[in-house]
Amino acid sequence: MNLIQDLEILDDLDAPKLTAEEAEGARKVYIETYGCQMNVSDSEIVAAILRAHGYGLTRDPEQADVVLLNTCAIRENAEQKVRHRLDIFRAHKRKQRPGLRIGVLGCMAERLRHKLLEEEQLVDLVVGPDAYRDLPRLLEEAETTGQAAVNVQLSREETYADIAPVRYDSNGVTAYVSIMRGCDNMCAFCVVPFTRGRERSRPVQSILDECARLVEEGYREVTVLGQNVNSYRYTENGTVVTFPELLYRVSLISPELRVRYSTSHPKDCSDELLHVHRERHNVCNYIHLPVQHGNTDVLRRMRRTYTREQYLALVERARRIVPGISLSTDIIAGFCGETEEEHRDTLSLLEEVRFDHAYMFMYSERPGTYAARKYKDDVPLEVKKRRLQEIIELQTRISLENNRKEIGRVHTVLVEGPSKRSPEQLCGRTDTNKMVVFDRHDFRPGDYVRVRITDCTSATLFGEPLGRTTLAESAHTEPALI
Ligand code: 5AD
Ligand code: SF4
Repeated sequence: MNLIQDLEILDDLDAPKLTAEEAEGARKVYIETYGCQMNVSDSEIVAAILRAHGYGLTRDPEQADVVLLNTCAIRENAEQKVRHRLDIFRAHKRKQRPGLRIGVLGCMAERLRHKLLEEEQLVDLVVGPDAYRDLPRLLEEAETTGQAAVNVQLSREETYADIAPVRYDSNGVTAYVSIMRGCDNMCAFCVVPFTRGRERSRPVQSILDECARLVEEGYREVTVLGQNVNSYRYTENGTVVTFPELLYRVSLISPELRVRYSTSHPKDCSDELLHVHRERHNVCNYIHLPVQHGNTDVLRRMRRTYTREQYLALVERARRIVPGISLSTDIIAGFCGETEEEHRDTLSLLEEVRFDHAYMFMYSERPGTYAARKYKDDVPLEVKKRRLQEIIELQTRISLENNRKEIGRVHTVLVEGPSKRSPEQLCGRTDTNKMVVFDRHDFRPGDYVRVRITDCTSATLFGEPLGRTTLAESAHTEPALI
C-alpha cells in the first residue's frame, strides 16, 4: 500500500531534517498536518517536544513507528479527509506494521475522542491542542499498556512559550511564530472556541527572542499567528502590551525582516495598528480581514459584532492610512436563513471592496456551536453550491482585474524557493502577499529581488527580475512604474 498516494497535504510538510542519530535507532514519528497555519505551527512544537524525548522524525509514513495526524475540525469535509487517512493507516497497521501507534492531535481530539477511541477503536492516542507536553508520557503509556491514551484537557495558560519549534518543513526563509492561542469571540458558526479553548497570549519577550533567533538563522520573514491575532494582550510589570505595540517591537528586530500576521478580526483592527503598517517599512502592506458576509442581518446572526457599513468604513480607513494596502478576506456562503437578497449583498460587498484575494466556503454546521443549537441549517445544498460558485466567479474576476493593474509595476519579491512548475524559475511574494514567478538567473532563496511584472493570472504574477535589493532600500521606491 502506498501511504503517500492521494496526499496533496504532504507538499506542505515536505522533508523533515533528520540528524544522523535520529536516522539510526530512535523511534520514528511521522506527522501529517491538516487545516490552518496554527496547526502547522503546532506540529513544529510537537516535533520539538518529541525530539527532546529522543524520538526521530521521518517524512516517510512507511518507516514510522508513530503516525500523528494533526487535525482540523472547522468544516465537515476537513474531518472526513482525516477519517479517510485514519482508515488507510489502520489498514497499514493491521497488514504490515502491528507495532504502529496512531494518534489524533488537535482540533478533532476533544469532539471525537469517544467515537475514535471507544466506538470505532480507530486510534491509540488522542491529544488536544493544549496537551502536547504530555505526548511523550502518553506514547509511553500506550506502548506499555497496549491501551489508548488520552489527554484533551484545555488550558487557560498554555502557550508553549519556552519551546523552540523544530521547523522541519522550512524553506529557511519564512517562518510562523505563534503568539496567542484560543478564541473568545464565539462567532455563531465557528467551532474553534470549543476545540482550542479560551484566548491567552504568550509573553512578549519570548516572542521577541524567537523572532531574533530566526533572524540570526537567516530567516527573512515571520508571520505571527493567532486564532484572533490582533486581540493579543499581555500584561508585563503592570503595563499592557497590545498587538500594535508587539508588532512594532517585532519590526524593530531587523530592518531586513518582513513581518506579517494572521488571522485578524475586524473588531480589533484599530487605527493604531494601521499606523504601525504605515510607519514601519517592514510590516507588510497586507491584512487578511475576514468579513464572512456582506449583509448586516446575517452578520448579526453570525455574531460578528460589526455591520456591513462598519466593515466598509474600516476598509476605507485602512486604505486612507496605508495607501496601497492589499486586503484579503474569508466568505461563508449559505449560512442559516440566508435569503437570495442577503446573498446578493455578499456579491455587492465583494464588488465594492475589491479584495485581492478571498477564501470562500460553503456553510457547514458544526456540532455544539451557537448556530447548531439555535438556527436551522436551512439553505439547500444545491443553493449553497450555486451561491458559492457565484461568489468564486466574481472574486476570481476581481482578483484577475487587480492583478492586471500590476503589469508594468516593479515589486520587491522575497524569494522563497523554486516555483512549482520549473526548477529554472523562482517564486516569492510581494509585500502585498502576491505570489510572483520569475526566471532564476543567479538569485537564491532569501534574496530580495526587484521584479517588473509582465503578466498574470488571477492567482499569480509573472515578471522579469531587475536585480537584488534590500528591504530598507526598496521601502523608498515601491511600487514604482518604470
Ligand atoms: N462553515 C464554513 N466555514 C467556516 N469557517 C469557520 N467556520 C465555518 C463553518 N462552520 C470559515 C470562516 C473562517 C475560516 C477560517 O473558516 O470563514 O474565517
Ligand atoms: Fe472562529 Fe470567529 Fe474565533 Fe475566528 S474569530 S476563530 S471565526 S470564533
